[in-house]
Amino acid sequence: MHTYRLAFIGFGNVGQGLAQILLERSEQLKIQFGVQFQVVAISDFVKGSLYDPEGLDLEELLKAVQKTGHLKAVTAPHMGWDAIQTITESNADLIAEMSYTDLNTGEPAVTHIRQALNLKKHVVTINKGPIALAFPELNRLAADNGVSLGIEGTVMSGTPTLRLGQDVLVSAGITCIQGLLNGTTNYILTQMEAGASYAEALSDAQANGYAEADPTGDVEGYDAAGKVVILANLLMGASLTMNDVDRTGMSHLTPEDIQAASSAGEHWKLVGSITHENGSMKAQVRPQRLPKTHPLANIGGAINAVTYTTELLGDVTLIGPGAGRLETGYALLSDMLAIHKS
Ligand code: HSE
Repeated sequence: MHTYRLAFIGFGNVGQGLAQILLERSEQLKIQFGVQFQVVAISDFVKGSLYDPEGLDLEELLKAVQKTGHLKAVTAPHMGWDAIQTITESNADLIAEMSYTDLNTGEPAVTHIRQALNLKKHVVTINKGPIALAFPELNRLAADNGVSLGIEGTVMSGTPTLRLGQDVLVSAGITCIQGLLNGTTNYILTQMEAGASYAEALSDAQANGYAEADPTGDVEGYDAAGKVVILANLLMGASLTMNDVDRTGMSHLTPEDIQAASSAGEHWKLVGSITHENGSMKAQVRPQRLPKTHPLANIGGAINAVTYTTELLGDVTLIGPGAGRLETGYALLSDMLAIHKS
C-alpha cells in the first residue's frame, strides 16, 4: 500500500468534491489500486487553513464547510497557514492546486505550482490560468525535479480530453479541434432555448457550481479561450497565448436570436476551434448557429464535447461533463492515480 500525503490549496466546490470522492472511495482505492490519499492540509484564504501531519478528518471538514461556509469550527495542530507556508512546511508530497483562476497572470497558482515542484512535490491542478500561460516552464520544472504535473481537469473536467489527445490521438496526427468547452454557456444557451431568461439561466449555472467566480470569464469566452490555448499548445505543437485567440462571447445573444435559430432548425453554440488556414494556425471562440445535423449541435446543458480531426482516423468526438463539483474532483483523482501508476 502506498500512501500519499495530500495538501489542498483551495477548498471551494472542486476541493469539496475531491474530499467527498476520497471519503467515499478510500476503501475501493486501496483494494483496486493499492493506494491511499491522506489529506494533511487545507489552505483556503477565505474558509480557513488547517494542517495536521497525521491527517485531517475529511468528514468533519466537509460537514463544517457545508454547514457554515468555513472551517473555523475545526481545530488542528497548525492553523492559519497560507498557501506557500502549507506547500513549503507541511509534510505533503502531493499538492492539489485549486485556487482561483486568473487567465491574465496565472497567479497565485503559478507561484504555488513552482514552489511545490521546486520542493519535489507532485502537483495536480484544475486551474487553467497557469497551464494556459506557463505550461512549458512548469512542465520542464516538473521533469527537472523528477515529479509530475497533472492537468487533466483544466479542459472538460474529468472527461479524459487531454489524456485521449496526448496519449492516443497525437500519433494519429491532429489537424483540427472544435469543441463546446464551457459548461456555463452551453447550459445558459440550452435553458434559453427552453424559454428561461439569460439572468435566470446564469444564476442557475452559478448555483450548480459550473460558473467561474466571476462569470464574465464564461460568458465572454475567456474560459473557453484558455482551454483553446491549452489544447493547441499541448496537442497541436503551438505556442499560443490568450491574445492569439480571436474571441467573442455569447452575452449579446437575445431571446429573439435564440428563437430565430430554433425556428430555422439550428442551435446557437459557443464554439472553440483550432484550424489551419493558409499555412497558419487559427484559434477562435465565437457563437455559431449550428444546423441540427452538426455533431456538436444537440449537446445540451453543462455537457461539453470536443471533435478531434485526425489524419489517420478522421473525426473522433468525445462528449462528457465539462464542469461540476464531483466531475472536476474526479479529474484530480484521475491525475493522482496516473502519478501512482507511473
Ligand atoms: N466555468 C467553467 C465552465 C468550469 O463553465 O465550463 C470548468 O472550467
